[in-house]
Amino acid sequence: MPATEALDQIVSQARDEFARAADPAQLEQAKARYLGKSGSITEQMKGLGKVSPDERRLLGAAINAAKDQIEAALAARREALQNAALEAQLAAEALDVTLPGRGRKRGGLHPVSLTLERIEQLFRSIGFEVADGPEIETDWHNFTALNTPENHPARSMHDTFYLEDAPGLLLRTHTSPVQIRYMQQHAARYAHLERMPEIRIIAPGRVYRVDSDATHSPMFHQVEGLMVGERVSFADLKGVVADFLRRYFESDELKPRFRPSFFPFTEPSAEIDLAFTSGPLEGRWLEIGGCGVVHPNVLRHGGIDPERYTGFAFGMGPDRLTMLRYGIADLRLFFDGDLRFLAQFQ
Ligand code: DAH
Repeated sequence: MPATEALDQIVSQARDEFARAADPAQLEQAKARYLGKSGSITEQMKGLGKVSPDERRLLGAAINAAKDQIEAALAARREALQNAALEAQLAAEALDVTLPGRGRKRGGLHPVSLTLERIEQLFRSIGFEVADGPEIETDWHNFTALNTPENHPARSMHDTFYLEDAPGLLLRTHTSPVQIRYMQQHAARYAHLERMPEIRIIAPGRVYRVDSDATHSPMFHQVEGLMVGERVSFADLKGVVADFLRRYFESDELKPRFRPSFFPFTEPSAEIDLAFTSGPLEGRWLEIGGCGVVHPNVLRHGGIDPERYTGFAFGMGPDRLTMLRYGIADLRLFFDGDLRFLAQFQ
């Protein structure tokens, strides 16, 4: 076979092999078979020494031309493979901008927090401020100052959590100690005035007791109320509480019941009851708080002269108010953290 024909064959064979190479590694292997140390073209070069000088010139030029063609084919295939790899990568990383978004879940306030916000708003609108006190309280503020000395039987209804390494400290069983703290501050702040400005506060917060069933939880909420001034009476108490409840439940028909009761820190004292007006508990009364006229001993512990000033106080359960407002029968739902329940209030 004439040498140039053989070269043409090698070139077309190389083109075929390059075309069949599916990736860069295969392509490099194919290249070695033609341009490598013992590749077909290299072998042809080696043969040049055996031919005459005239023939060598012609044959050499033909081999070089064949080599150029093979290199060009190789370069073209390399580029084609690179482009294909890039295409594949782009296709794999493609974003489908037409997909609907996943959205972001919105948080929201807990139903009891909603109630507390509402209570604060309603009391602020009649001139009450919002006061605060510690949840780890002294035995004195929680009991003694509230006219409940050690061994008083009323203490047993307030079994609580005591701090082992800190005698005299406990988790407050009610928000009533805020009454004492606030009165002391208020009395000291206005000691220089001839007449003390009226106290009108509510104190919402967490309280603790050893108690757990469908209507009691070891941690629950209370809102304390306190009004002290020169002529504050039980009539003011009834007016403020009844008005608050009507506005809270958005009902003028609502009839709260003030049932005579006993608390050491008030005299007289009453229990505030409210009836369910719908739902499975319709017609049943639920106790939502206690109230009364502040006991002189309590005013005294607050640094206020009981001969001159009088006051009323109340303590309500916002958890119960929330249950009544939304018709919820089990208090524990508030503390389980189940989103199926909680999301209904968003
Ligand atoms: N502190 C009472 C309790 O937790 C509730 C209470 C009753 C608060 C009468 C008051 C009040 O301020 O006057 O059971």
